[in-house]
Amino acid sequence: MTLYTGDCLHEMKKIADASVDLVCLDPPHWTQKTHTLKTRDNATTYQFHDRWDGIAAYRDFMRPRLAECARVLKETGSIFLHCYRTASHHLRLILDDVFGMANFRSEIIWHYKRWSNAKKGLLNSHQTIYFYSKTACYKFNTMFTEYSPTTNLEQILQDRARDENGKSVYRKDASGQVISGRFKKGVPLTDVWELPYLNPNAAERVGYPTQKPMLLLERIIKLVTDEGDTVLDPFCGSGTTLVAAKRLNRHAIGIDVSAEAIALTQKRLEHPIRGSTYLSKTDAKNYHARDRNVAAILQTLDARRVPNNKGIDGILRKDDNGKAVAVRIQREHESLQEARALLLKACQNKGFGRKILIRTSRVAQNALFDTQVVDDKLVVIDSCQFLIDSILTP
Ligand SMILES: C[S@@+](CC[C@H](N)C(=O)[O-])C[C@H]1O[C@@H](n2cnc3c(N)ncnc32)[C@H](O)[C@@H]1O
Repeated sequence: MTLYTGDCLHEMKKIADASVDLVCLDPPHWTQKTHTLKTRDNATTYQFHDRWDGIAAYRDFMRPRLAECARVLKETGSIFLHCYRTASHHLRLILDDVFGMANFRSEIIWHYKRWSNAKKGLLNSHQTIYFYSKTACYKFNTMFTEYSPTTNLEQILQDRARDENGKSVYRKDASGQVISGRFKKGVPLTDVWELPYLNPNAAERVGYPTQKPMLLLERIIKLVTDEGDTVLDPFCGSGTTLVAAKRLNRHAIGIDVSAEAIALTQKRLEHPIRGSTYLSKTDAKNYHARDRNVAAILQTLDARRVPNNKGIDGILRKDDNGKAVAVRIQREHESLQEARALLLKACQNKGFGRKILIRTSRVAQNALFDTQVVDDKLVVIDSCQFLIDSILTP
């Protein structure tokens, strides 16, 4: 990790041309305010100025600094510029000039929940992040998210094709039967990111004004870099980008004009904290919505959850000779026979390969299920917890 104190326009001159994989910046945003915040123990006050003699002065400040960002980026590199509504439209035009309109990739809307609004007008609950690449051959690691709770099994499994009018339809075989494809990886990440704002009690909060959540930076870093790559944040503030990069085994360079910000970044890098409650809240909402135990077991199996289905809880990422593998977890008060019946019914005529039933309890057990393989298609496997309980309570 490399840290520089000073104006990033000058400090970036120390960085070689085409040596950085990702520039991620959250500069002053023309809020016409001085941002001040105290640490939780009231011992330190952090501050930075964001007051300008008109918008032209702000544009003149940002343009040469963004040009320096472009110079240090590799041909495969990308820039993510964090903006507020105050000046995002100005910044986008500068980015078009510096990187070229053809290299505009996405306007990311970071959306979060807020509950109060002291001002007249609409409650502001998003910020914008512009994603540009240096060239067309930029590095990009496609990410997938979970299916929404209303997605049904057919949508997850069935292959799609274009009909003669170019309309997307389910792919069918010669006899007109819908073809079940391999398991899809999930929904490709969209440009609207639903991530919570850093709340006042978050463990990772260090008392720096406008500190960004680590989850946001981790997502950006994973999207366009690999382990060992270099990330630059020329307005690093409390160092969130650098801490996220360190956690993900990337090299990072941080610059800030404030010596206090650099000292704080240094301290955070020595003891990185990421609020775990914070992540679990989001995950809990999106993923563990149905049954915590089921979700936890699915995670250990490298399976994706199937929402909205009575018999199938998940589908393995690995397939069985080109066919999807369905998984059901036996519920607490459900016999293995009941679980089996629900799983087999849900799988009927869907073109699955093997089905896996995870045994979690001995409720009304049938001798039939004492062997692991019940038939060539249904496999019963004991959950780790079940095995441990069997050993400890004979
Ligand atoms: C919006 S804050 C960044 C907050 C950061 N993303 C975080 O999570 O803590 C903007 C930062 O830019 C710094 N800054 C302002 N002008 C600068 C300049 N010319 N060069 C480098 N840093 C500058 C400020 O000191 C402030 O820390």
